[in-house]
Amino acid sequence: MHSFRQITIGSLLSLSICSTASSTADLTIQNANHIFNVIHDSMRQWGSSLHHNGVSFFLATVPAGTQFYHGTSNPGIVSGMEWLAFEPEHAMVFARPHRGPPPPGPPDDNDKDDRNGHHEELRRRHDEGPPQPPPDFKDFDENDSGYLHTYAAAKDLRLIYIDGMSAGKTNKGTLDSQDYVLFNGTIENFSKDKKPHRGPGGEYDRANKACEMAKNEWEGSIDGVLRMEAGFEIILCSFERDLTPIRTTQVKKDTKARGKGKGGPKPHGTPGGDKKRKGPGPGGHGPDSSRWMRAVTSRYDSIGGNRVSLNYDNFVTAFSHDFNLFPEESILPRLAHLSSLNWTALRSEITSMVLSQDSKSSWDWQATADMIVTRYSDELSSMASEKFADLKQLHEHIEILLSPFIDYSKRDIQEEAERCSTQFLPFQAQDEKSLAARSLHHVAHTICSTLLEAWAEEKLSLSQNRVRSLITYLDWTTWKECRGCQDNEICVVPIWPMGTISDYDNPKCRDASRPYDGEDGESYWGGMHG
Ligand SMILES: *[C@@H]1O[C@H](CO)[C@@H](O)[C@H](O)[C@H]1NC(C)=O
Ligand SMILES: *[C@@H]1O[C@H](CO)[C@@H](O)[C@H](O)[C@H]1NC(C)=O
Ligand SMILES: *[C@@H]1O[C@H](CO)[C@@H](O)[C@H](O)[C@H]1NC(C)=O
Ligand SMILES: *[C@@H]1O[C@H](CO)[C@@H](O)[C@H](O)[C@H]1NC(C)=O
Repeated sequence: MHSFRQITIGSLLSLSICSTASSTADLTIQNANHIFNVIHDSMRQWGSSLHHNGVSFFLATVPAGTQFYHGTSNPGIVSGMEWLAFEPEHAMVFARPHRGPPPPGPPDDNDKDDRNGHHEELRRRHDEGPPQPPPDFKDFDENDSGYLHTYAAAKDLRLIYIDGMSAGKTNKGTLDSQDYVLFNGTIENFSKDKKPHRGPGGEYDRANKACEMAKNEWEGSIDGVLRMEAGFEIILCSFERDLTPIRTTQVKKDTKARGKGKGGPKPHGTPGGDKKRKGPGPGGHGPDSSRWMRAVTSRYDSIGGNRVSLNYDNFVTAFSHDFNLFPEESILPRLAHLSSLNWTALRSEITSMVLSQDSKSSWDWQATADMIVTRYSDELSSMASEKFADLKQLHEHIEILLSPFIDYSKRDIQEEAERCSTQFLPFQAQDEKSLAARSLHHVAHTICSTLLEAWAEEKLSLSQNRVRSLITYLDWTTWKECRGCQDNEICVVPIWPMGTISDYDNPKCRDASRPYDGEDGESYWGGMHG
């Protein structure tokens, strides 16, 4: 019975492969797997940490009333361009005195005086600041505290979301989409000797240029940019226009941190300037980093609370272009090696998206992608595993998965693949031409037809190989999720500037009070950007 069916399916399949090519040609879309993952990973700390090189840009909306946090040495209400965190624990990392001894760890941020207080946060985080005359005593000593500011969005914010770990100041490609596509290679490189400094990773320059673009090219229709590092953050161009101040509180004075080495987080990035440094990255120690990482990892699956909605109907991604995004066998996509004409082409698409599109989606394509991932993720990894000892068992498992799509009075492989692949798509959208709709349909079709092919194979190894190639093609980040972490543990993956290569390859449950402590192995991120 089984072998008869296998032969039938096998021959039907070879027929269907020929005809599929023409009938679903309009479905065929390059990089559908990557575009699927762009949608699935968006606004998620987990997927965006693993697929950390974003090459896509979305319109994003944050509803009025959403609360945000800002950490600084200054209790005064901020005006102008500054930085906002979605989680207070993220902002608290920067709520510290702006004079006085640097935080523990590498002397990477000298906190030069910045008397007007403007852009202090951006500098503090990323900039050595220009050399300054010695501060007068009053400024020097008046406050040795940090402040946590709380603000609420005064209106719906309209933002550009730059996907991946786009606030990670690395050389691994996390900044490509900003530095090359948005800024055409004009971000000044960090150099300890170069003057004037524009900050490690050119962060101040980047923020300024983004707000200039918002004002000029985007005709004032964008309020800021949304990015991710260890936590999601916004560079907001006008605090006084877009925010309602709620409160300012003084944070606990960090006495321990004045000691050496232990006690405070070190968010400032450079692993002590020693690029070959082994062991834990900076930021790995102490109760502050534990507080920070607990908050950040609670957003692995979603920023939560509908605080951000993306427009999935229309977004810009380099994956939809005929670029070679994987130079020299790069595993993650890069944009830096493309020509400036290619960057300009993407930048014009962004501008036309900004000027012509509504910020809201007509359909939540991420929710659809989620249904596909949750339905097949465990099924596929189980089918590829040792659990299946013989072919019959595997075939039975595949049949169970596909049976809802089979008319047993009239087998038709092509029909079955199509029924299976449209299961999760909204019916009215099945002919939809949007990139999201086509990519999801394409990926679902690849899954369903690969399962039919695996069912037609007559050797266990061949059948499983089909499933394994499918897993490689899909590259879902769910397959790296930890299982069974205890309630005092978090699943640890490299989040700039922390983590090792082995955390990337094989994330593990770790004690949440010291998530990156006691790590052996080479830092995943290597040296600082620039
Ligand atoms: C120091 O703190 C007080 C109140 O806490 C504030 O009024 C003053 O402006 C602060 N000084 C500086 C230099 O930030
Ligand atoms: C981008 O940079 C290139 C080379 O540096 C330059 O030739 C080009 O005019 C720039 N394009 C824009 C739009 O500024
Ligand atoms: C920054 O440095 C990179 C690599 O070191 C180089 O390719 C790039 O051209 C530099 N950019 C500028 C604006 O100097
Ligand atoms: C990228 O730029 C190169 C050089 O300017 C050009 O030949 C190529 O056609 C561009 N690629 C695409 C997909 O536009």
